[in-house]
Amino acid sequence: MRPQVIFLGAPGSGKGTQASRLVEGLGYSHISTGDLLRKEMAKKSALGNRVSTIINEGKLVDDQTVLDLLKANCDLVKNQYIFDGFPRNEEQAKMLDGQILGNHKSKVFYFDIDLGDLAERLINRRTCKDCGQIYNMLSRPPKSAGVCDVCGGKNLIQRRDDDAATVKNRLKVFEDTIGPMLSYYKKKGNLVTLDATKDVEQLYGALKNNL
Ligand code: AP5
Ligand code: MG
Repeated sequence: MRPQVIFLGAPGSGKGTQASRLVEGLGYSHISTGDLLRKEMAKKSALGNRVSTIINEGKLVDDQTVLDLLKANCDLVKNQYIFDGFPRNEEQAKMLDGQILGNHKSKVFYFDIDLGDLAERLINRRTCKDCGQIYNMLSRPPKSAGVCDVCGGKNLIQRRDDDAATVKNRLKVFEDTIGPMLSYYKKKGNLVTLDATKDVEQLYGALKNNL
């Protein structure tokens, strides 16, 4: 049985892109706390309204809110998950182990890349509103301008938190929180570091080889 997978990495390091490759290639289920929060914002639910300013300023939502949302949306009896965007700090790492994963085997992949390379990737990201496919206007544009290669949808949108000022804040939050999380998993012994400067297919190969 393959392990539950946890992705750690800076904004724009390629977590969502690799998650969709793993879903397609190995049948994993993808759970992204960022996607779950953005869905709440799009629905304009009470939760969505409460978190929208925080997200659009590039700060972290409080741990308990995100943990509750994650618990309500995952079922480890039926699925093997890629946890993308959770944990974001050491406290969340402990919550994930203690309150969600329990005895399930897990492997943690850290997408290692110089933060200086990421603003350009994020500012040029577009996402299909209909199916979630991720593009990059510089390095991975759709084959036909404005049209999703996967579903043919014509809504390739830019995330609101991908503007230059918010990206700067998100990268700073990441820089301030990643160290203790890496130490936590190093001590636990289930951490694999990936070179996230590699292209999408090379990175996917490295990921699969380490599962
Ligand atoms: P979230 O949605 O998780 O965003 P993030 O962590 O900032 O990461 P991104 O989705 O921006 O980047 P990614 O690594 O998925 O990169 P991608 O594959 O798209 O969180 C958003 C917000 O929600 C947070 O700021 C916070 O407010 C809140 N939140 C979420 N979880 C939370 C939690 N647990 N606790 C508290 N708050 C939480 O790729 C990026 C671009 O690069 C694309 O254009 C892509 O085409 C390109 N690319 C990908 N791979 C490569 C490659 N190998 N080479 C070249 N280009 C590549
Ligand atoms: Mg993502």
